[in-house]
Amino acid sequence: MATRIVLNTISYHGKGAIEHIVPELTSRGYGKALVCTDPDLIRFGVVSKVTDLLDKAAFSYEVYSDIKANPTIENVKSGVAAFQNSGADCIIAIGGGSAMDTAKAVGIIVNNPEFADVRSLEGVAPTKKHAVFTIAVPTTAGTAAEVTINYVITDVEKKRKFVCVDANDIPEVAVVDPDMMSSMPKGLTAATGMDALTHAIEGYITKGACEISDMFHLEAIRLISQHLRGAVENTPEGREGMALGQYIAGMGFSNVGLGIVHSMAHGLSALYDTPHGVACAILLPTGLEYNADYTGERYRAVGKAMGVEGIDQMSLEEARAATIAAVKQLSADVGIPADLKEIVKPEDVRFLAESAFADACCPGNPRDTSVEEIEALYKSLM
Ligand SMILES: NC(=O)c1ccc[n+]([C@@H]2O[C@H](COP(=O)([O-])OP(=O)(O)OC[C@H]3O[C@@H](n4cnc5c(N)ncnc54)[C@H](O)[C@@H]3O)[C@@H](O)[C@H]2O)c1
Ligand SMILES: [Fe+2]
Repeated sequence: MATRIVLNTISYHGKGAIEHIVPELTSRGYGKALVCTDPDLIRFGVVSKVTDLLDKAAFSYEVYSDIKANPTIENVKSGVAAFQNSGADCIIAIGGGSAMDTAKAVGIIVNNPEFADVRSLEGVAPTKKHAVFTIAVPTTAGTAAEVTINYVITDVEKKRKFVCVDANDIPEVAVVDPDMMSSMPKGLTAATGMDALTHAIEGYITKGACEISDMFHLEAIRLISQHLRGAVENTPEGREGMALGQYIAGMGFSNVGLGIVHSMAHGLSALYDTPHGVACAILLPTGLEYNADYTGERYRAVGKAMGVEGIDQMSLEEARAATIAAVKQLSADVGIPADLKEIVKPEDVRFLAESAFADACCPGNPRDTSVEEIEALYKSLM
């Protein structure tokens, strides 16, 4: 079967990348932007790094910031109304996955109003038109939502998150500037960085992996393992390396899928508002142990990319164990909790397992699974 790869039309990387936002808009003839972001990013002065440039260029814009972490159907609906009332003709998404995902859903619905209920976008939605022209500016490193064809929305009523997969939602332009990430506190840097590592590893072992995605994922694993600790200490090299590493992971997993770590993480955020990266990081070693026998030599390659010494000389079993140990060590070094004891309530486990099994990321897992087996995985961490 032929492989499809979808990427941004243009992306900018490195310090000063945000200087390209205004020229990208004016050269295309856009006149007014809806800036989609969240309230904390306004408070911390992150959004003003971009809006100062818009002001300087007298480029017209309005701000929509009614977006919570793990964004909801309501956040999307009010964003659509904000776009329509603003008279904007393009979107600038500034934020982590929450703001960028909301902006993607807004841009899709504005141009495909038959999906205005939002829920009908779950899975692969047959939208006909590309989303409103969007420039995505990530402020976490992270989700890589600026280069993925996915977005994740929370259905508060049904207590679940749902994943939407649609090549029409990819932002045309991504502006990946490490200076937009430097205000992240340590815990957020660690959690979002471990989300990126989870993307790279799950994407590398997923059923749909191909040579092109392998290339992205191995390089992402290398960069993230090398730079996450530095990013948590807010070093410029650490921030730069993580900005790039998380984006490269997105170039891969967006095109080939993920696995049960993400399926299981989504339920935790829907039920307890657990930050997505924290959920992924706690579940990753358990997911790796569960999948180990279904991955051939792949964990050895992951371990090698992570810099595990002597891994070429190890037996397959030893190499797998050493790789999982390296993941656990990185997670511990950046302060991620080791289990779900403080998060999951025992009475929710069955519901969580059923939600994870039904999640869009589940079929990509290298090992075929079941509700019962997922239930056992949650319980092993409680
Ligand atoms: N689209 C995709 O492909 C994809 C992939 C993975 C995850 N996701 C989704 O993305 C969401 C998580 O996104 P996230 O982990 O980037 O976090 P987030 O967007 O939810 O942000 C979390 C908090 O961090 C704050 N924050 C963000 N950047 C900051 C900065 N530079 N300085 C200070 N504070 C900052 C935000 O204001 C917010 O309060 C989840 O809903 C998850 O399901 C999407
Ligand atoms: Fe993720």
